[in-house]
Amino acid sequence: MKRPAPKHRPSPRSSEPRTAPRTAPRTAEVIIAEVGARGDGIAAFEGTKVFVPLTVPGDRVRVAVKDAANAKGEGLRSDLLEILEPGPGRAAPPCAHFGACGGCTVQHMEDAAYAAWKVGLVQGALARVGLGDAPMEPLSRTPPGARRRARFAALKRGRRVWFGFNERLSHRLADLTECPVLLSRLFALAEPLRGLLLSVLPDGGGCDVIATDLEGGIDLVLVGPRSLDRAARERLVVFGEDCGVARISWQADDRGTPEPIAHRRPVAVSFDGLPVTPPPGAFLQASAEGEAALVAAVLANVGEPKRVADLFAGLGTFAVPLARRAAVHAVEGDAPALAALNKAAGALRLTTERRDLFENPLTAKELARFDAVVFDPPRAGAAAQAQALAGSKVPRVVAVSCNPATFARDARTLADGGYMLSRVYPVDQFLWSAHVEVVGVFSRP
Ligand SMILES: C[S@@+](CC[C@H](N)C(=O)[O-])C[C@H]1O[C@@H](n2cnc3c(N)ncnc32)[C@H](O)[C@@H]1O
Repeated sequence: MKRPAPKHRPSPRSSEPRTAPRTAPRTAEVIIAEVGARGDGIAAFEGTKVFVPLTVPGDRVRVAVKDAANAKGEGLRSDLLEILEPGPGRAAPPCAHFGACGGCTVQHMEDAAYAAWKVGLVQGALARVGLGDAPMEPLSRTPPGARRRARFAALKRGRRVWFGFNERLSHRLADLTECPVLLSRLFALAEPLRGLLLSVLPDGGGCDVIATDLEGGIDLVLVGPRSLDRAARERLVVFGEDCGVARISWQADDRGTPEPIAHRRPVAVSFDGLPVTPPPGAFLQASAEGEAALVAAVLANVGEPKRVADLFAGLGTFAVPLARRAAVHAVEGDAPALAALNKAAGALRLTTERRDLFENPLTAKELARFDAVVFDPPRAGAAAQAQALAGSKVPRVVAVSCNPATFARDARTLADGGYMLSRVYPVDQFLWSAHVEVVGVFSRP
């Protein structure tokens, strides 16, 4: 059966490639030299480089060379046609969907090579800003079956619902029968959700489903059915009962606010033993293991401060454990997340502030009252805040990041302001993807 190419909000999927090839593909034989930051193999080709998905260093492969890999014309994209001679670091992918599903990019790498590649992503980003000598801790690992949060996509065509993740570089859906990355109880909802969405979605319609494993049960947010009539709402309630889902919310589009539809049981996530009730769809570190590694790195390196600022604090992943040791000021842009943290904080020495830290970072004067600052921005990084920190006298800064490139940019800013990057912790909580988290420890000599 042909995969569908639907058009719907908020994630329209079509069978069109993202960029139309400028010329017809031609075949070539190349040898992979390294794996790049997005997980594609890289080979030299006619004075430039060609990116080849699903390859490892040493692979001799036949490829269909396509168009420029990016707007700057740095290299060419290609499709892998045939592995003529495999390189030494290959492994059998554990998932039947690997290659088609865009959720994972590197299941075909032998484990030691995979771990070295992840550390190399952090090292390479730091080297590009002249900080490649920073001492690097070993990679913290997250096992398969541990991811507690996922955003699935779903699409209904006739009597069938496709449910899974987008295919690689495509808006088409990979209809998943397994996912070794996710907690099994999270993926166990895929089949029941297909049944539910068959009755809730219109033909040709789609939605996204954000699923989070919380204390109390699974929390679901349906993003995208434009409207939900009374019968559909009732079906969601029955689904919650039948499948033991703790909370179900609905959000008409990406910019909307989730509306609770069924709330069967209290939900919480505990930070250092303190239960916080996340608003539907709130940010949470992707795995308990990843979160533990990040928190351990922060606590081990924050020193013994009296007053700490936790910037981009979210629900309090770092603020709560820090507040057991010091007075903490948690700053965050998302009002519902901050309200949840405030409500849970009780007797903790914790103050909170809602603030846009891109537009209005804490100034050097405001920072002067803190002995330590922790910051954990989204992928875009914290350019403005790093600039303000660079002009401050805060003795210790611990930066957490999910993007080595913006982490390195902000690290350079701090280094130019006189900070020394004394330790780097790479943390792998997005197993088999090209993502890696970083914790960097900065102090004034
Ligand atoms: C990577 S999350 C980290 C959250 C928290 N530290 C944690 O570990 O769970 C980034 C946080 O930054 C917040 N954020 C995004 N843009 C922001 C902005 N411009 N100003 C303040 N906070 C922002 C998000 O709401 C989110 O909570």
